[in-house]
Amino acid sequence: MASQRRVAALVLMLKAWIIWAVGADEANMLRSCWNANYNSTPVMFEDWISGHPARLYMVDAWWSPRRNSIPLTIFTMMSLDRLSMLESQCRGYIGPISAAVYIPLVLEHDPNLGHDFTATSDHASGDERHGYDRDDGNDNNYGDGDSDGGEGDDEAANVLVGRRRHIQEPVGNKESHTDPVALARAKLQNLFDQMEEAAAAHAAGNNSLPGCCCQLRLMLFAERMSDSPLSTIMPTNAMRNAAMLGATTPLSAMFDADLAPCTKINDLVQNVSWVQYISKEATRPSICIPPAWETRGHLQPNSKNMVVQRAITGAKADVLDMWGRSELQVFQVNLCKHCHKTFDHSRWAKEDLPYTVQHTLGFEPWGILWRLRDPGYDERFRGWLYDKQTHVEALARKHRYTFTVLPDLWVVHRPHKKVGIVQLYRKSNVTGDGSMEVEALLRPVVLSNGKNTTVYTAYRHYMDSMRHNLRSALAARQPYEPQQNAQFLHCKSVLPWWQQG
Ligand SMILES: *[C@@H]1O[C@H](CO)[C@@H](O)[C@H](O)[C@H]1NC(C)=O
Ligand SMILES: *[C@@H]1O[C@H](CO)[C@@H](O)[C@H](O)[C@H]1NC(C)=O
Ligand SMILES: *[C@@H]1O[C@H](CO)[C@@H](O)[C@H](O)[C@H]1NC(C)=O
Ligand SMILES: *[C@@H]1O[C@H](CO)[C@@H](O)[C@H](O)[C@H]1NC(C)=O
Repeated sequence: MASQRRVAALVLMLKAWIIWAVGADEANMLRSCWNANYNSTPVMFEDWISGHPARLYMVDAWWSPRRNSIPLTIFTMMSLDRLSMLESQCRGYIGPISAAVYIPLVLEHDPNLGHDFTATSDHASGDERHGYDRDDGNDNNYGDGDSDGGEGDDEAANVLVGRRRHIQEPVGNKESHTDPVALARAKLQNLFDQMEEAAAAHAAGNNSLPGCCCQLRLMLFAERMSDSPLSTIMPTNAMRNAAMLGATTPLSAMFDADLAPCTKINDLVQNVSWVQYISKEATRPSICIPPAWETRGHLQPNSKNMVVQRAITGAKADVLDMWGRSELQVFQVNLCKHCHKTFDHSRWAKEDLPYTVQHTLGFEPWGILWRLRDPGYDERFRGWLYDKQTHVEALARKHRYTFTVLPDLWVVHRPHKKVGIVQLYRKSNVTGDGSMEVEALLRPVVLSNGKNTTVYTAYRHYMDSMRHNLRSALAARQPYEPQQNAQFLHCKSVLPWWQQG
């Protein structure tokens, strides 16, 4: 009985779901809550390895005004050079995607970078706005936004037009080439406009693209730093938390930018019985995980891209066929056997129904969560070591999540050059495009305790000790709290769509 009531309540929630259709309001709310607690003191490498959080300024935010009726938001973060991957994600998904884009500003090179970043008051943030107040005694509070959607749409259009005037630098403008902030902003504006235009073309009857396009929610973050080492060590998990803020739907999934969900996801998220099933699992709580695939290393870049494309757009039988022919393999199977082995891909091949697997140390799946129950990421983890694993470990060992493997959904990794940290971690050959980054990581640093080491060694040491502490705490059932910065926590406490119903 109780479980039936729970399902009924879930269905109600899903039916009564809000459509945050307004756009510009949300972008403004995000900016004002985030920047209200901005600390403009430049960060240093040693600040971080002694436990200080990232200091991110939200330069700008964009929020698609198109209506959404899809219950799953994908969120992701990236450096500026991966915008094309975000574009691919957006062209392949019909629901909302919230993306946080990062640029480091090294003041050693130009002390004026970001000199105009200042903490702003967030009085204008959403908590007093009509139509967003969640404490109005209306049971159906997921539906409130609808009533003034029309008015909001006009407002959104005006603000967007106004904003465009300010942002769009003429192409070839010298300043936009020298100012990395203006350049990044122009690139994001351009991507956002392109996605809106492509979606409009699609809506007008151009159906050549299966799921085009997502409702993009973009945030541009800059971090001022007084020395350069941190510029190669992205605040991965702080950025994931920031991107998560743009998720509004009952379900959310963090898919890194180099990951493509199969296009079948567009049918699933519109299938009421699938959504009900996932929602019920997610509130158990369980993380619903699709297996990840990648192309085999021996393929040429061109055939790799074709294999990826077929694996994304094909049926499950096609994926299994490509696995059998060694065009596809289990993600990272040669590099990190324990990271994805828990899925038991041979079983997945045969299953038509979801099945549960036990968490194992080092397990690293991506997956779908009930948004309001995602504990978020530990921001001490920067760069590309243990960042995602520790989130999964906390889900399993602190929050007692089960792991539900989805038989009908999968994700495919798009090939790209390895980032510097991963090259060093894997000790793969350090040549070509990545070498500048690698060089920067191998530079000597003298820490305040007099220790003379390299950036990478200090990084590894801090990451290894953080993971060790976290694992010991979780194993001993001692309290473990992820580090989450004041800006993220403040936004979560004031943004209307983050208040528990
Ligand atoms: C449809 O979209 C494709 C891909 O974006 C484009 O090449 C084509 O010109 C479009 N066709 C029409 C009729 O708009
Ligand atoms: C919807 O999902 C359910 C459960 O996964 C599946 O059995 C059913 O065939 C799907 N319906 C459609 C129309 O795809
Ligand atoms: C790296 O490259 C050098 C020269 O190209 C080669 O001799 C060496 O075996 C390579 N090392 C690894 C680990 O691949
Ligand atoms: C630190 O070590 C590097 C490389 O071994 C050396 O070049 C540098 O002079 C040393 N710096 C200090 C302050 O000891």
